[in-house]
Amino acid sequence: MGTQESYEQQDRGTGRRALLGAAVLGAGGAVLGLAGTAGAADARPASGGLKSLPVPTIIGHRGASGYRPEHTFGSYQLALDMGADIVEAGDLVPTKDGHLVCRHEPEIGGTTDVASRPEFAGRRTTKMLDGVSTTGWFTEDFTLAELKTLRAIERIPANRPHSTLYNGRWEIPTFEEVLKWQDEQTRKRGKQVWIYPELKHPTYFRELGLGLEERVAKLLRKYGKDRRNAPVILQSFEPTSVQRLNKLIDNPLVVLLSGANTRPWDFVVTGDPRTVADLIKPQGLREIAGYAQGIGPTLDLVIPKDASGNLGTPTTLVADAHKVGLVLHPYTMRNENPFLPANFRKGTDADAYGDAFGAFKAYFATGIDGVFTDNPDTGLLAREDFVNG
Ligand code: G3P
Ligand code: CA
Repeated sequence: MGTQESYEQQDRGTGRRALLGAAVLGAGGAVLGLAGTAGAADARPASGGLKSLPVPTIIGHRGASGYRPEHTFGSYQLALDMGADIVEAGDLVPTKDGHLVCRHEPEIGGTTDVASRPEFAGRRTTKMLDGVSTTGWFTEDFTLAELKTLRAIERIPANRPHSTLYNGRWEIPTFEEVLKWQDEQTRKRGKQVWIYPELKHPTYFRELGLGLEERVAKLLRKYGKDRRNAPVILQSFEPTSVQRLNKLIDNPLVVLLSGANTRPWDFVVTGDPRTVADLIKPQGLREIAGYAQGIGPTLDLVIPKDASGNLGTPTTLVADAHKVGLVLHPYTMRNENPFLPANFRKGTDADAYGDAFGAFKAYFATGIDGVFTDNPDTGLLAREDFVNG
């Protein structure tokens, strides 16, 4: 696929440096962040805050999960080495003994080797997770010491057979390890490393006595990263979780938005009848802007697809969000055919790349401020093309 090749070419070339060194136009044409000198990108201060990021910001989704098993230090490190502006390290869930670990969901049957461990066979169970019956192994039933004996595996081997090479190589990271890694990498590179952790299923875990927000805040405080200008953006699909974070810490906060007809689980539990369609109306966005700095909508809320799965006409969401001062970091761009809009696919192979550059370009053209992508190297090149016209 030329992945490694394109990464190395990008690193060797001068285009990216020139791009980052130039002032970048963001929401409403405002100049965001960098000083406009070639060296500015390498000396970006930690105190620059959210607006110091290049736009559109390339966020390594679960690391560089297009190439390595997600939420491993192998994946995080590759995202950083490729030049991602931010690494989504990690999606956070708790262990039985209250530690925060990096997994996309509490059920770990699809992303670790737990199913092949006879000593944990008895932990397999069925639970209701946000109203959905879910069977497997759950982080909250394991101590950290037990989880550390597991090894990560590729979630979607049919689409990413190359990534299975790394099955069994890395353990599950803790959030505390991520915070230390961020500092080590920042020191090593002489350049601020940003992370973008997400709190997963906060209402579900609070009901189990494992509240996430206080645990996240405590660790951020311990490492001096609980400030507005700290290089840590926090995100959640549950607005009340973001509101809770807003009372505990000063970090930039982002409300994630799923499909228009869905309801955040905290709304279901508290009886709030609003759906995402309500939250993206001007009143809903104004309310979000009262406690958060951004939204992370699914890409379909920015450009819906037609009945054939082709990209349709952009909505007004970008303009509406910018009007109330919110940045937009939609999710998730992936290079493989099945994850691209139909009109950007090439052939039908599930593990083949389609015209990902074309898709990035279409989304960038809407004025989004950044994007989560499993393929940060592709996203960075696409940004270079976009900014250079
Ligand atoms: O965090 C942005 C995006 O990651 C939300 O989707 O399901 O991949 O966590 P998900
Ligand atoms: Ca996430």
